[in-house]
Order: sequence, then C-alpha cells, then structure tokens
Amino acid sequence: MLSRRRAIRALAAAGVSAAAVGLYTWRVEPHWLEFTHSFLPIRGLPREIEACTLAQISDLHIGPQVADDYIVESFRRVKEFKPDFVVYTGDWISYRSPKQFGQLQRVLLEMPYGRLGTVGILGNHDYGFNWRMLNVADRVSEIVRAAGVTLLRNESAVVGGLQFVGIDDLWSPCFEPKKILGEKSGDDCAFVLCHNPDAADLPVWGNYQGWILAGHTHGGQCKPPFLLPPLLPVKNRRYVAGEIELSGNRRMYISRGVGHLLRVRFNVRPEIAIFHLESGG
Ligand SMILES: [Fe+2]
Repeated sequence: MLSRRRAIRALAAAGVSAAAVGLYTWRVEPHWLEFTHSFLPIRGLPREIEACTLAQISDLHIGPQVADDYIVESFRRVKEFKPDFVVYTGDWISYRSPKQFGQLQRVLLEMPYGRLGTVGILGNHDYGFNWRMLNVADRVSEIVRAAGVTLLRNESAVVGGLQFVGIDDLWSPCFEPKKILGEKSGDDCAFVLCHNPDAADLPVWGNYQGWILAGHTHGGQCKPPFLLPPLLPVKNRRYVAGEIELSGNRRMYISRGVGHLLRVRFNVRPEIAIFHLESGG
C-alpha cells in the first residue's frame, strides 16, 4: 500500500517537472535573449575604427512563429548599446505567403542601425519554399535595402571605413562566392558575412584570412547538457555556436540567432552578439 502511494507521488512529481520543463522550453527561453560580448581582434584594423562596436543580429525569422513584439523589443535593447556597426546575417523571414513582406516592412521600422553602417546578407529562409523562390529573395532584398541596409549578395562594400564581403546563401541557387573571395588578398582587412557555417569548409576562400560571421544553426535550439544538440542543420557537427578556429588563419563566429523555427528553446538561449573591435589577430 505504502509503495503504491510512493509510486503515485513519484509519478505526479515527474509529471509536474515535465510540464514545468515544457512550459519553460515553450514560453520562457525562446524570448530570453542574451547579449554576448567578445573582443574581435582584426589585423590591419584602421585606427579610427579601433574600439568600435559591432552588433550581429541573425535569424530573425519574421513570420508566423516569432512574435513581432519580441523582435521589436530585441531591437530596442540593441539600440541601447549604440553600436557603431550592425550586421544582419540572414533569415530575415520564415516565408509562408506574401504576407511576410508587409510584416517584414512593419518590423523593420523599428530596426537598429549602426552609427557608421548597417550591412546584411540573405539566408536560406529568405528564398522561400525549398530555398528556390528567387522572387521571394528579390522582394526581401528590396525591402531590406529600402530600410537602409547595405545588402550584399556575393558582393563587397566599404561601409564606415570597414570592408564587408557578403556571401549569398549556401543552399540557395545564388551561392557564388568564389569570384568575390578570390579578389581578397591575405592582407585585406575585411569581414565576411556568410549565413551557413558549412560554407567555411568549401574550397572557395582563396587567400582570405580573417573573421566569418555566420548564423543558421540557432545553436540547435534544444541541447541536452554536455551533449551536442540532436537537430543541427549543418554537415560539420563542430559548427554549433560561438567562436570556431578554422584553417587558413580564419575564424568564425556562429550566432545562436534571435528567432526560431518552432517556438522551442532549451539550454540554447537566443543571442545578439556585441563585438568590440580591436587591432591584432
Ligand atoms: Fe535560421
């Protein structure tokens, strides 16, 4: 009799714990944004840019799954840092229908800009279904450019005294980085923005040395402690989140992103990275 009661109590406790974890995973962590801070040593950094800050905002996924209010509040918090540069590393939207274009326009009315410049690229979700809808990518590009972002699609641009190279998305039909990266010498001071970290392993980098800022993985969204996340949309399982040392004197930072695909996050809080630029590397 006693052991039966104990078993019932244990079951009830397990049920309550599971419900609490579920509630946390659904209601709390997906909106529990973390601002991470790190120093970014850059070789040949122009003196006037030293000690400037750069905010990386990735994977907003504006659409039916991510609450607009949450994104707008995240934008407001970025503005408090008064970043010198802001970069957006793709997946502006989760495309379901042309409704997302109006939604993107409305949310971007609140977007933070860098004092010296604002640069962006596209991600696979900006290409609509199966990452193949070129008309969707073009419309997203138009809206983002009209909002004042220097959007780079296999292009480079000097913005605020810093050179940025923006690679179009690896899974899209428009991934063509070879030419633009081939123009870079090992001495160039540049930043590469590249949505999908797997691109770092392809033989397209020429002599480029320096930082690659990426997103795409969302850090896996749910991760058991001490283990890799079970769902990770990359071939290279090293590419989860954070700073990664690469061959050829390259380093990559993978943001955990702001938004989500499904509204669940566990042990992988959303992130906006604030980088402090310094000479070195
Ligand atoms: Fe994404």
